[in-house]
Amino acid sequence: MVELDRLLASCLFEIDGCKDLKKLYAVENLVLGKNGKITEMLKSLRDMPNDKKRSLGAEINAAKDSILQRIEEKALQIEMADLEKKLSSEFVDVSLPARSENFGSIHPLTKVEEEISNILSSSYGFAFADGPEIDNEYHNFTALNMPDHHPARAMHDTFYMNMLADDEGRKLLRTHTSTVQIRSMKASEPPFRLFSIGRVFRSDYDATHTPMFNQVEALLVEEGIGFSHLKWLLSDFFRKFFEVPDLALRFRPSFFPFTEPSAEVDMNYEIKNGKMILGTGDKWLEIGGAGVVHPNVLKNVNVDTEKYQGIAFGFGLERMASLKYGIPDLRGYFESDDRWRSLFSFSHFVR
Ligand code: DAH
Repeated sequence: MVELDRLLASCLFEIDGCKDLKKLYAVENLVLGKNGKITEMLKSLRDMPNDKKRSLGAEINAAKDSILQRIEEKALQIEMADLEKKLSSEFVDVSLPARSENFGSIHPLTKVEEEISNILSSSYGFAFADGPEIDNEYHNFTALNMPDHHPARAMHDTFYMNMLADDEGRKLLRTHTSTVQIRSMKASEPPFRLFSIGRVFRSDYDATHTPMFNQVEALLVEEGIGFSHLKWLLSDFFRKFFEVPDLALRFRPSFFPFTEPSAEVDMNYEIKNGKMILGTGDKWLEIGGAGVVHPNVLKNVNVDTEKYQGIAFGFGLERMASLKYGIPDLRGYFESDDRWRSLFSFSHFVR
């Protein structure tokens, strides 16, 4: 049949000319699809006499087979060519030296924050409590037993915000984390066993002072609590933190408006071969303040002072990190100097 021969020839020609699979399948659809030319021919057999049907049917099917076979061959050819192209353009030179990896590291403050949190929560059941860095005079001073014009307000070199005061006084950057005591006690009922760690701000700058630093604050309010509990708690805590089992602590009488009695806590050390060794010797080093919570503070947050007593402490985080890991000069903590970082930060992999 001439018509079929012509169709077969032009079809094979079209197939050979296809450059991608999309074109190839378009040609296939045109010939063998639902309304394709070969399909139409096969359909038209229905109306033919039987003898013709058989011979013509065989011819058409043979043409169909050779078209399908050619399409298959062509598809394989196109796929191989595509792969070839991809392989040559996505060539990877495995002999090149590897690029060096830069891993981040753990800042010593993050490290001691983790250590302190672990000890306080797992050894004594303290829960973490947070508070805002921008607070007000009420939480930072008034509620902590420092009324207006109390001389202790001058001990803090406070950064005040340039905003109007409301009934809780002027807005300020908190000068200590003791603000969290007030916020947490107001929000809940005693007993309390909580701690906070965070940034505090004071207008001060030299080798031992930075305008921003970090504190850890702990507060315990329960029945029958007194100074002896505080002494035991701090001794145990510092021995665990510094990993020195016989570290000695000295409690020096001091003054904080929010505690009575108040103490400054020192620990013993000696210098051997130019290195500071904690827990031996008879030199003393101050690490922070502590005391029995002043009844006025508890009254300010409606805690029944007949029933409950509290103990609290507050320490500088940088100081604790410096003592534990021998880090000099406070300013290094905040200067993002890579040399400092490589000396004093910790690997993610060795913990
Ligand atoms: N808030 C004090 C400061 O920043 C530290 C402090 C002292 C906190 C005694 C306390 C405490 O909780 O009981 O200097």
